[in-house]
Amino acid sequence: MSLVEKIKQLKKEKNAVILAHCYQNIEIDEVADYVGDSLYLSRCAAKTDADIIVFAGVYFMAETAKILSPNKKVLIPSKHAGCFMADTVNLKQIREFKEEHKGTPVVCYVNSSAEVKSEADICCTSANAVSVVKSLGAKEVLFVPDMHLGSYINSELKDVNVICYPGFCPTHARILPEAVLKAREEYPDAKILAHPECRQEVLKLVDFIGSTSAIIKYVKESSEKEFVIATEKGVADRLQRDCKDKKIILIEDSVICSNMKIIELEDVYNALKEDIYEVTVSDKIRTAALQSIEKMVSISG
Ligand code: 13P
Ligand code: SF4
Repeated sequence: MSLVEKIKQLKKEKNAVILAHCYQNIEIDEVADYVGDSLYLSRCAAKTDADIIVFAGVYFMAETAKILSPNKKVLIPSKHAGCFMADTVNLKQIREFKEEHKGTPVVCYVNSSAEVKSEADICCTSANAVSVVKSLGAKEVLFVPDMHLGSYINSELKDVNVICYPGFCPTHARILPEAVLKAREEYPDAKILAHPECRQEVLKLVDFIGSTSAIIKYVKESSEKEFVIATEKGVADRLQRDCKDKKIILIEDSVICSNMKIIELEDVYNALKEDIYEVTVSDKIRTAALQSIEKMVSISG
């Protein structure tokens, strides 16, 4: 029996569901029940009636699934699948940031730990960040931890002052304006699409700014034939697989999240077979973090 078949059999036996982020190695899709961006996967985690959720993604995503489905066993196939951006802010640092700007509402990007979420008023993902900040109706908000996404929100909502924590994603920050200019020269007919975790200087030069799901939707629905993708490689790989009639170019070969790519099919198999690695969140943190996640989920439908 192949590894894929073994995983599928174990899934049935254990009533498990596999959620996979679009940045995962593409072969994980063969066993995944749901593949998508972090907002979509949060919704899947909240709705599933499986007993076990295997989260093929990074730790904060699995933790979010546990917060939304506390009675399910949530497993992450590698305990090394962290997120550099999430690790840029801890409980002490968010408390200090709040203290410096007392009374200002805090919006927390889901790319953060449960502890950090527990200190926020509301969460957001890249798919709903602008509408979440807008929904607060505040003149000023604190945004943690991604300063690039925060700056993007600032540019979209002129009447809100978004005060950004200085965190960032090294994978997206690796993309420089020069790469966009080079891609324009090499592929003059291509549309260039970027994730809002990219630098402002990059976002200013592209044709479309959107979350993982928005980029995928744009390419699939477009009548254009060439696209340069300025986000993680997994998005470009899946688009090329699904849109055979289109040319998909990853802006630079190095736009790879090494943490996302740690997980292999073998790890998914071991996770299911051995029930490892279980993700846990204390009740106190979970209750507080849940409030800010639920507020987000209710706003984004
Ligand atoms: P999405 O919210 O678009 O899934 O992105 C998650 C992420 O980690 C981006 O770097
Ligand atoms: Fe974190 Fe960046 Fe990887 Fe996304 S791409 S999981 S933000 S390190």
